[in-house]
Amino acid sequence: MAFPKPRNINVERYVGGLSKFKRIDNSIKLSANESALGPSPKAIKAFKRDKNKILKYPESDSNSLRDVIAKKFNIQSNRIICGAGSDQIFDLVCKSFLQKGDEVVVTEFGFIMHKIYASIHGAKVLIAKENKYKASISEILKKITYKTKIVFIANPNNPTGTYLSKKEMLTLRKKLRSNILLVVDDAYFEFMKKNDFTSGLDLFKNKPNVLITRTFSKIYGLAGLRLGWGYSSKKIIDSMYQIKPPFNVNRVALAVSIEAIKDNKWTKRAIKHNTLWAKKIFSVLKKNNVESNQPTANFFLMNFKKAKINSDEVFSKLANKRLILRKMTQYKIPNSLRLTIGDKKANEHFIKSIESILK
Ligand SMILES: Cc1ncc(COP(=O)(O)O)c(C=O)c1O
Repeated sequence: MAFPKPRNINVERYVGGLSKFKRIDNSIKLSANESALGPSPKAIKAFKRDKNKILKYPESDSNSLRDVIAKKFNIQSNRIICGAGSDQIFDLVCKSFLQKGDEVVVTEFGFIMHKIYASIHGAKVLIAKENKYKASISEILKKITYKTKIVFIANPNNPTGTYLSKKEMLTLRKKLRSNILLVVDDAYFEFMKKNDFTSGLDLFKNKPNVLITRTFSKIYGLAGLRLGWGYSSKKIIDSMYQIKPPFNVNRVALAVSIEAIKDNKWTKRAIKHNTLWAKKIFSVLKKNNVESNQPTANFFLMNFKKAKINSDEVFSKLANKRLILRKMTQYKIPNSLRLTIGDKKANEHFIKSIESILK
């Protein structure tokens, strides 16, 4: 019998962070870089208020949210596009720009969804080597050919936690041909405290050939609602609107995110919490001979090459203490685990556990 045949898409599937262990109750999930404090109470109030309105379609183009974003960041609302997670923004940009024969450059340990979407949309993905888990501009430039359409970079990057300075980002844009689109993924910029860092939006909001992406999944604690946005020149954003599914952001996500983004007090609190715990955890790791990135985001990539046991053993021992971390198998980063900074209780439990495991 002839059978319907899907398109042959040669792409690896994304493996998300584990949520729970089968045989362990009350596990603590520190595997997906979710928010430690959760959403603003004002956002939760909006959630409860709007849950009864779900029989109605949402706005098709997220106009009310775009206005709030535009006001907050002093940018133009008609150059913003919202999506079901910044994931959908990567999907849309790849869909509107790529065809077979095009090339996309990503970095060796760059956020994996960038290369997954580029492959789904038929491009050849070229991988630029990193230097000590940090993106290298010279390696990126080596991979550029006349077929290059897009270069992706998350800054700071997940899972490595490394970043390119303002100067390096400006150099990168300057050295790329003007008809190559640079996508700068700002997912974790709120957590950054480094003086030589500037967010993609602040650096490039007036550049016509840069797309900046942002998310509500991290600092705003709304990963489960799926909401992100992109900002670029009108022409690029319009090309993405042309293919955007209608109603791609749901009604509850819109209502909740508007309150979340307006609550500066809660955002400051979340940043303060992260800065405090990032500093504490970083020093505990150092003391215990675990190499990691500097505090740059809400997670640490920990390398156990100087420890007495390897990352798989650490993973199991932490699991026995109910802690779920992220294995780096899919990223092919050896002897490493990624830890998301959690709430006070989770962080204290992690510190106590890792100290006893590595002593
Ligand atoms: C660098 C980076 N970009 C984007 C995302 C995805 O965000 P969203 O939940 O908005 O799709 C993540 C999520 O882990 C991330 O680490």
